[in-house]
Amino acid sequence: MPRVDNEVLFSQMNWRYACKKFDSTKKIRTEDWNILAETLRLSASSYGLQPWKFIVVQDTELRKQLLPLSWGQTPVTDASHFVVLTYKEKMDEAHIAKFIDQNAKTRGVDATTLDGYKNMMIGDLVKGPRAEVINWWAQRQTYIAMGSFLTTAALMEIDTLPMEGLDPAGYDKVLGLEGSGYKTVAAIACGYRSADDKYQHAKKVRFDINDVVIYK
Ligand SMILES: Cc1cc2nc3c(=O)[nH]c(=O)nc-3n(C[C@H](O)[C@H](O)[C@H](O)COP(=O)(O)O)c2cc1C
Repeated sequence: MPRVDNEVLFSQMNWRYACKKFDSTKKIRTEDWNILAETLRLSASSYGLQPWKFIVVQDTELRKQLLPLSWGQTPVTDASHFVVLTYKEKMDEAHIAKFIDQNAKTRGVDATTLDGYKNMMIGDLVKGPRAEVINWWAQRQTYIAMGSFLTTAALMEIDTLPMEGLDPAGYDKVLGLEGSGYKTVAAIACGYRSADDKYQHAKKVRFDINDVVIYK
């Protein structure tokens, strides 16, 4: 496969912006959506543990209920797709065992050969000091998926709005997450920009490259 030209990459980085107003008549085609779903699934995560569920809210009634819990931001109801990023609140041995089984099955190895790996993860995340702050660890992982999603979407000329402006506990209630072990951290609205979203014409406000990328 030919690699994507640098000009195309740079141009799409600038094309992407936080879309504040979506055209509610334009829907993402199923084959395009499926690639966006894969960008979430294939995202990197620490140890590969994937401590997340990505909830695609398709029910218009649910999306209406989420609107007042999202500072009234209209992309919640108007964007083609609305994805809520949730993280696994506590890491446990059952999740690690599930991951080890998947690993053994996928790579055709005996699960016992992965015992060292398994015990290392348990020692670190379930029984080690990091268990105390595991919810922060899990939330960070979801943001990696968010970044992958925004970039892939931009390459596909699909607009996005990453959203932290929401009430996570309210979302958990509306989406029936209470007691599930998963909690809302953020969301992404995606679809196609409205022609009259003035933010698409605003210049990017960024610090100078030498101010943020430091070579030593
Ligand atoms: C994690 C995260 C959460 C954000 N939450 C919101 C939000 O709730 N509402 C909003 O209008 N923009 C939100 N933004 C968009 C940022 O304000 C925007 O990315 C930033 O101003 C840079 O502008 P640009 O993305 O258009 O280049 C969020 C961005 C990120 C990365």
